[in-house]
Amino acid sequence: MPKVCVIPGDGVGPEVVGSALEVLHNLDVQFDFESAIVGTQSFEKYGVYITKEALTLATESDAILFGALTTPRRRDYVSPLLLMRWNLDLYANVRPAYCLNKEFCLAPLDIVIVRENTEGMYGAEEEELENNVVVTKRTISEYACQRIIDFAFKYANDHNRKKVSCVHKANVLRTSDEMFKKLFYGTAVNFAFYNKIRSDDVLVDTAAMYLAKEPEYFDVIVTLNLYGDILSDEAAGLIGGLGFAPSANIGKDHALFEPVHGSAPDIAGKDAANPTGMILSAAMMLDHLDKPHSAHIIRESLKHMFQDKNNWTKDIEGPCGTKEFTQRLIKIMDEKSANF
Ligand code: IPM
Ligand code: MN
Repeated sequence: MPKVCVIPGDGVGPEVVGSALEVLHNLDVQFDFESAIVGTQSFEKYGVYITKEALTLATESDAILFGALTTPRRRDYVSPLLLMRWNLDLYANVRPAYCLNKEFCLAPLDIVIVRENTEGMYGAEEEELENNVVVTKRTISEYACQRIIDFAFKYANDHNRKKVSCVHKANVLRTSDEMFKKLFYGTAVNFAFYNKIRSDDVLVDTAAMYLAKEPEYFDVIVTLNLYGDILSDEAAGLIGGLGFAPSANIGKDHALFEPVHGSAPDIAGKDAANPTGMILSAAMMLDHLDKPHSAHIIRESLKHMFQDKNNWTKDIEGPCGTKEFTQRLIKIMDEKSANF
């Protein structure tokens, strides 16, 4: 039985994870779930934001289901999420953004952002010089660029996507981003020839504009860490908000599934969070654990849910709290899954 390490975290994390677990329990899948305390609660109990034991549990699992963590106001804080991305070498952050119902989307989006997840501005060394000058060192390696490019093309091929766009800032970062772009085209030629996948490259600022103005331009985007972080929030904004965006952090040996949103402390504990992003992340986990039909049932049921305004969540001015939404979704899964 696959082992799933559950890290609810804090803020709205436990609420949305609770919702995703209820959905998973209602499916015909068997997992061995084990929870780990990570984040502020861990710090209060053990003096560290993630213990060795929690990291070991995550490492020894087949998948990690992660809610959200609040970033404390301390300069020496390193996010356990980043630590897991680095320690487990979760190098590909896959962020699909598609519109579940046109009525609450700003654009008819259906894209997947494949974000390099191990270097770039993340983990950057920041050195304070005199006179309040800070120098930040950003690392871009050929190795990391090549493997995220390979991942994006393979993903596009496996998911029947037609185009991969490389998003970069090579007009300014003329060595690092230029290398990324060059490597991209080196791989693109093979996929154009053998798999009929088209390719192009777009500057990140232009990409942000096109995403809003002409989102059908994009299919799969492959990009560096910070650009992917920013564009995936923009994409979420176009499909109803952060509550609708899932993600998968994939490595060779490990995988972590989390919504794109953060801990939203302003609505935490109020039964107001939209669990869709978390539930869709759980669906990505099901795909990863070779349960594509169960993943399909979740996605189709969610589509069905949002057709009826009575099922809408609070973030899009609907009546449903997290719990009510979850119960209604489970009812639809029970009633409709035979048709999906
Ligand atoms: C995300 C988050 C993280 C990131 C933070 C919490 C470190 O914004 O998953 O997109 O910047 O990657
Ligand atoms: Mn982010």
